[in-house]
Amino acid sequence: MRALLPRPLIWTLAAMAATTASLPLTGCSPGAETEEVNLYSARQENLIAPLLEQFTDETGIEVNLVTGSADALLQRLRQEGRNSPADVFITVDAGRLHQAHAAGVLQAIESETLEDNIPERYRDPDGEWFGLSMRARPIMYHRDRVDPAELSTYEALTDEQWEGRICIRSSDNVYNQSLVASMIASEGADAAQAWVDGLVPNLARRPQGGDRDQIRALADGVCDVAVANTYYLGLMLEGDGRDRDVAEQIGVFWPNQDDRGTHVNVSGAGVTAHAPNRDNAIRLIEYLSSAEAQEWYAEANQEYPIRDDVPTSEILADLGDFISDDIDLYVLGKNNAEAVRIMDRGGWR
Ligand SMILES: [Fe+2]
Repeated sequence: MRALLPRPLIWTLAAMAATTASLPLTGCSPGAETEEVNLYSARQENLIAPLLEQFTDETGIEVNLVTGSADALLQRLRQEGRNSPADVFITVDAGRLHQAHAAGVLQAIESETLEDNIPERYRDPDGEWFGLSMRARPIMYHRDRVDPAELSTYEALTDEQWEGRICIRSSDNVYNQSLVASMIASEGADAAQAWVDGLVPNLARRPQGGDRDQIRALADGVCDVAVANTYYLGLMLEGDGRDRDVAEQIGVFWPNQDDRGTHVNVSGAGVTAHAPNRDNAIRLIEYLSSAEAQEWYAEANQEYPIRDDVPTSEILADLGDFISDDIDLYVLGKNNAEAVRIMDRGGWR
């Protein structure tokens, strides 16, 4: 099987095997073939590696980790097709998880553990992907220049009072595509178009950078309100130096609390279509949904646990409770193409 692997991957896996060789292997009799699982992850290695080591400790299954950008890994899965060594694909945003589903690189699995641990709205109805952590995308504002009483909904950001005062990243980013997709689901395509049409003239600058850059722009006085994912602010608050200084100037406002709730999304995982180690793949995803793993994973990433019975980090708890938009997240993927068309028509760069 290994001979079928593209060469750079063999090296990566061989390097990983070398670094994990010292991990204790339980449930593995001498001379027996080592149990393993190959993971393609769009998440940073340091945000998941300790959990994978714990999984190996508990199960004796070695994890070969390949990290990369979400788009590059999806592309790779497509190109490798049935020769892919990957068993599990981890990526962020239901929009992307749906893309992977639509591209045929995942397979449906059934697991009572996953159905028990993960609320229905955070997983694919066909069983091809499962949410593992949750993030919200609220409005953030500069505490000195905005009174939170002026804020109410995403829709109200189209009001004249916000002209030239809003920072948000570009429309080619899946986070904003999913936000628009959620609006299509709840309010309809015309309302989503009206929102984009009204938001674009209120932007302080041509969209640029990631969510952290929008938060920094608030502190730099470029804009007064922004829309960004909670974990960026959480990680900045947890850090030190300038990012922490910046983050301390920022308030979080939970929009749409009187109607559909604040937009939320997930990171998640699926078993790949041709997984050579399918059973181990399911065990790994089940492990990542366990209370113990959820607690560590959510804390390390400053994300909300996917399960109600696991506490959030202190930093996130300080941001306050909120009502989240509870639509089934696969709908974000279903509405993605329409969301992109709406954003293009509205001139959202
Ligand atoms: Fe992100």
